[in-house]
Amino acid sequence: MFSISKLLSTSYRAITAGSAALLLSGIVISSASAADIATTYNNSCAACHDSGALNAIKKGDSAKWQQLIKQKSMPTLIKSVKGGMPQMPAGGLCDKCSDDDYRKLIEYMSK
Ligand code: HEC
Repeated sequence: MFSISKLLSTSYRAITAGSAALLLSGIVISSASAADIATTYNNSCAACHDSGALNAIKKGDSAKWQQLIKQKSMPTLIKSVKGGMPQMPAGGLCDKCSDDDYRKLIEYMSK
């Protein structure tokens, strides 16, 4: 005999298993890229932006970063890093960063 309750419990299990997988894949993707940004920051930008060497704006000085982002806008700041500044080498010592990586690095430093 056809059992509606069996059908319901089977599809309920399928739905919860499916959304758990979705949730998990979301967590894995976002934590992996956050870790990459932290590593890239440490390898490329930290030399100057951690200590404020050469008058670089320090990581975590969010008031200064927010002001700069407002003044110049994010696309301009990304261009500055790519093209270099008087005291900052072009690319900020990162040879494989994309525009999106630079945006994430700037956001990371501004927190
Ligand atoms: C060799 C030191 C050095 C490194 C490495 C470095 N910076 Fe800089 N950065 C500076 C200095 C110094 C300034 C201030 C401007 C100047 O005097 O050249 C600056 C300014 C900036 C600015 C502001 C630009 C503007 O238009 O005002 C951004 C954004 C920035 N750095 C991002 C980065 C990122 C992202 C990285 C890593 C990929 C990085 N920097 C690596 C020294 C450095």
